[in-house]
Amino acid sequence: MDATLIKTVNKLQDAFATVGVQNPVDLPQIVVIGSQSSGKSSVLENIVGRDFLPRGTGIVTRRPLILQLINRPHPETPNEETPKPNGTTGTTKAPNSSGTTENKESEEWGEFLHIPGQKFYNFDKIREEIVKDTELKTGKNAGISSQPINLRIYSPNVLTLTLVDLPGLTKVPVGDQPKDIEKQIREMILKYITKPNAIILAVTAANTDLANSDGLKMAREVDPEGSRTIGVLTKIDLMDQGTDVVDILAGRIIPLRLGYVPVVNRGQKDIDTKKAISSALENERLFFENHQSYKSKAQYCGTPFLARKLNMILMHHIRNTLPEIKAKIQAVLLKYQSELLTLGDPIDDGGHNHANLVLNIITEFCSEFRTVLEGNSNELSS
Ligand code: GDP
Ligand code: NA
Ligand code: MG
Repeated sequence: MDATLIKTVNKLQDAFATVGVQNPVDLPQIVVIGSQSSGKSSVLENIVGRDFLPRGTGIVTRRPLILQLINRPHPETPNEETPKPNGTTGTTKAPNSSGTTENKESEEWGEFLHIPGQKFYNFDKIREEIVKDTELKTGKNAGISSQPINLRIYSPNVLTLTLVDLPGLTKVPVGDQPKDIEKQIREMILKYITKPNAIILAVTAANTDLANSDGLKMAREVDPEGSRTIGVLTKIDLMDQGTDVVDILAGRIIPLRLGYVPVVNRGQKDIDTKKAISSALENERLFFENHQSYKSKAQYCGTPFLARKLNMILMHHIRNTLPEIKAKIQAVLLKYQSELLTLGDPIDDGGHNHANLVLNIITEFCSEFRTVLEGNSNELSS
């Protein structure tokens, strides 16, 4: 996730915290949909930038995974820009019992709703727990369940945001799957993508026909205008020699208002050999930069561009939410002022100042956002 956006949202939330308003910026949920094994879990993992999801051929994701990313400020770098109500700046980090600073690993951890209080610092263990709890509820034989797994990841490197990984659309039941597997999975998916606040990542493997894309078809049912659907084309590396997705990217096949992003995720061999995300991203970059069809537009290809596009959408969302929040703060301010008048107290109340402070910060953000958005919005439609 984009560091500037994380910083900006944190600043905003800090400001709200000083007036006791809790997280008023309700960011959209990002929901990943598409056919089985199209690469949904791989895309999600690349966006988060950590290895923790079960991936593979066949039906691997068998329950919805609701992944809440929670920004937790870096312990070593307290935010010094936002004054706290008591007049001090930031928070002072207390040394831990051993007197040393916390090690790098303890800055990021996962916690499952079904195992409260247990912190998972090892992301391989998070994956194992997802597999274990999936099997517990659905058996080992390809069964599915609409009961979600709730996972929270606390990290200084994420935006406080919810992502949803879902089982893929499949037609023919196998193993312990119900006869109406297709209908059940459709209903599961619809539940998440119908929310107007959801951003749909409709994943299609580039070595399959776009016209048959289950993800795109379902996205169109709930978002006919295409105002919250991003097309993601995976497995570009597996396309037949001499074929490419240039026509799709140009909007000549099935146009999407927010466009398509081609990506190259790790293949099954990379998963088996535990290839790191960082080297996978490097591979992806080299692939697009050296490919005859994509090298001239490599900046619009790959996972980093997809992440930037998501950031832009989130920024637009925040900007659109700000006037409403501003009005709410203004109302709080008025309330304080009239209370002060009733009390006849000439001494200024702390809350009044803080409300003013938040208003100033929001006003500042509004113009900051406008500048950033104007500079980047061409990327959204490209
Ligand atoms: P999901 O079922 O849609 O969640 O798909 P997964 O993320 O589990 O991926 C399914 C299989 O496709 C795995 O073996 C991945 O390694 C492979 N895969 C996904 N994306 C790509 C890609 O862009 N290129 C290649 N070569 N393999 C991919
Ligand atoms: Na799969
Ligand atoms: Mg999956």
